[in-house]
Amino acid sequence: MSENFPKLFEPFNIGTCEIPNRITLVPMLLEVAELDGTAGDRCIAYYTERAKGGVGLIQTEVTRISDWTGCTGPRQLSVTSDRCIPGLTKLADSIHKEGSKIFVQLHHPGRQTYQLIVMVWKLSDVVGRRWNGWWKLFFGMTKYFDYFEKPFLHKIYPRTVSASGGIPANLACSPIDETQKVRALTHWEIEKLEDEFAQGALRCKKAGIDGVQLHCSHGYFLQQFISPYTNHRTDEYGGSLDNRLRIVKNIIDKIHVLCGPDYPISARLSADEYYRMFGYDVGYTLADGVEIAKKLESYGIQHLELSCGTYDCMNAWCEPTSFDLGWRKENGKAIKEAVSIPVGNTGVIRTPEQAEKLIEEGYQDTIGLGRPLLADPYWAKKAKEGRSNEINRCLSCLYCLESMMSNALAGGLPGQCAVNPRTCNELEFPLEPAKVGNGRSVVVIGAGPAGLMAARTAAQKGFKVTVFEKAPKVGGQILLAAAPAHKYKIGWVTEDLETQCKILGVDIRLNTEATVDNVKELAPAYIFNATGGVPITPKIPGYDLPNVYTPNQVLDGSVKFKNKKIAVIGSGMTGLETAEYLVDTGNKVAIVEMADEIAPGTWIQHKVDVIPKLEQAGTEFYPSWKLTEMRKDSVEVQNTEIPERFKNIPCDAIIMSLGVRPTGLSDDIKKIATTIDVGDAIKSGRIASATHTAYRAAMALK
Ligand SMILES: Cc1cc2nc3c(=O)[nH]c(=O)nc-3n(C[C@H](O)[C@H](O)[C@H](O)COP(=O)(O)O)c2cc1C
Repeated sequence: MSENFPKLFEPFNIGTCEIPNRITLVPMLLEVAELDGTAGDRCIAYYTERAKGGVGLIQTEVTRISDWTGCTGPRQLSVTSDRCIPGLTKLADSIHKEGSKIFVQLHHPGRQTYQLIVMVWKLSDVVGRRWNGWWKLFFGMTKYFDYFEKPFLHKIYPRTVSASGGIPANLACSPIDETQKVRALTHWEIEKLEDEFAQGALRCKKAGIDGVQLHCSHGYFLQQFISPYTNHRTDEYGGSLDNRLRIVKNIIDKIHVLCGPDYPISARLSADEYYRMFGYDVGYTLADGVEIAKKLESYGIQHLELSCGTYDCMNAWCEPTSFDLGWRKENGKAIKEAVSIPVGNTGVIRTPEQAEKLIEEGYQDTIGLGRPLLADPYWAKKAKEGRSNEINRCLSCLYCLESMMSNALAGGLPGQCAVNPRTCNELEFPLEPAKVGNGRSVVVIGAGPAGLMAARTAAQKGFKVTVFEKAPKVGGQILLAAAPAHKYKIGWVTEDLETQCKILGVDIRLNTEATVDNVKELAPAYIFNATGGVPITPKIPGYDLPNVYTPNQVLDGSVKFKNKKIAVIGSGMTGLETAEYLVDTGNKVAIVEMADEIAPGTWIQHKVDVIPKLEQAGTEFYPSWKLTEMRKDSVEVQNTEIPERFKNIPCDAIIMSLGVRPTGLSDDIKKIATTIDVGDAIKSGRIASATHTAYRAAMALK
């Protein structure tokens, strides 16, 4: 028994398969497989890293069971033919060598796919699986015909299938195009897909994979049958709960026939579809979830990995940072009390302390971790060794999902983690970088995420690192981003880097501005310019009035408002966060945005998270309006579509949220040693651009 977190490190069984501890990697598609769906070196390295980090059970990403209708991403794993077996065998062997177990998540997306992905995959398959150029050619072309704005191909290629056709997708939040045609499967097609699930399971068994998981969650194909919202069939696959579950039961029976009754089968189940959270009175609730769980157990499912929601309610199953820790733990408890098989659950579980308590208090048997194991694959090992303070915590910033989806559409590159640049790049960057520093000095100027990442990485490489930070605290812009209520997790990135830097002996000098003298004194071999950015304040008439402020002044508390009407100019993430902070502190807000939509370029999940809250607080939105003048009591704006139209918006104060420009570092300091700009010192960006530019630059130090 482990001394630290004894419950977490207790073994458990899924049928005949013994799992060494309660920590499970929940499935996550990161697009690390090969373009033909096989497990190549990058995929094996990604999963093996998590096994090395002490995870008991690795559950793979959505793994395709049908090439014809079931594709969901260009680089997802596949079990559609025997050519997938050698790669899976290598993967299973690699995981077993680390003492962990591995289940493959068998998946079909149903209506939740881009028909286009299916079509292009098919084309590339026909032309030759080994020629990756198809993807590149196709995705290169999409740039020119602006496909995603005008999805004409969706309409002419109705390859998307489901239990029923004609049910709108994209109710609340989904990157799926709701206009694509979906058709109901015929009876024989359903039977064929059941067979394909079972054949996929058999290939897994042949490859030495320990078990399979049926993906009955996130509104994918099997949930489309289970949910009364998406299943309107009148045959034996629709109507009663037994009928809606028939496809799952048949698949289980067919797996038992092909793989034997002992081959372990788990299910990912949405405990509650949560449509109501987003204002829609459809779908099923937890009470139905409990009944579904009981039926699944009676059919032979031996482990439930709970999740929730559907693609339409994406923020429920892959939460933005505003969601509370463990907010859906009651789902686990209700289902655990109704079944006798082990029940796992996710729901913003971020620390071993929280996880141990969830098991101890009977909320769940196993701990599902997704993003936390992207942020820190060594989460379990550190917990076991009593080093949980060293864990790099996940911020729930959603960069992984956003980058995975946009990279997939841009040519099949893997997703990335904002706080761990090694994730999906395990082959490129060793865990322990070569110690080339030999005690030489490195100076880092600025202790934001870029500065601290550069400092930590340089220290890992054997440099003696000193960080100058003129503020009394580390964090830089992160302190502002973490200021609104419910955004505190964003602050973890610099808190955790600070802890790791201190353990590595980095000298962090707070309240200390870098000067030529104090930098020279350290005789650095390299200087990192991580001085970040300053708000852009263009000289629009009225810019120097006393009622004009920057977001920094609001978010760092240097100006405070109460019962005021504030105009926020610019609706990027900082503008939205500032607006949120202002309404939370009792003000009314008007948001002015030059583009024709609020928060242009912002990932959909953030918009769905913040905009309804702002709407509820009575916020006025002015997309397509450009600021022309600021006054003591109002702002004057001009319509960008009809330039003759002007409007006056009354307000007490104005916040200019128009981005940041690099702060700049004096040439005299730069002359002291080779100076490398990182993060916002290069160009205004997100947390990921700060940490990734810094990590790559520090890893390249000679
Ligand atoms: C990038 C990404 C990809 C995901 N892909 C899958 C998937 O393939 N199958 C699945 O069941 N869930 C998938 N999920 C959901 C996760 O398994 C998990 O339920 C969710 O991230 C919430 O848990 P967490 O806060 O521990 O990350 C994905 C989540 C992310 C962030």
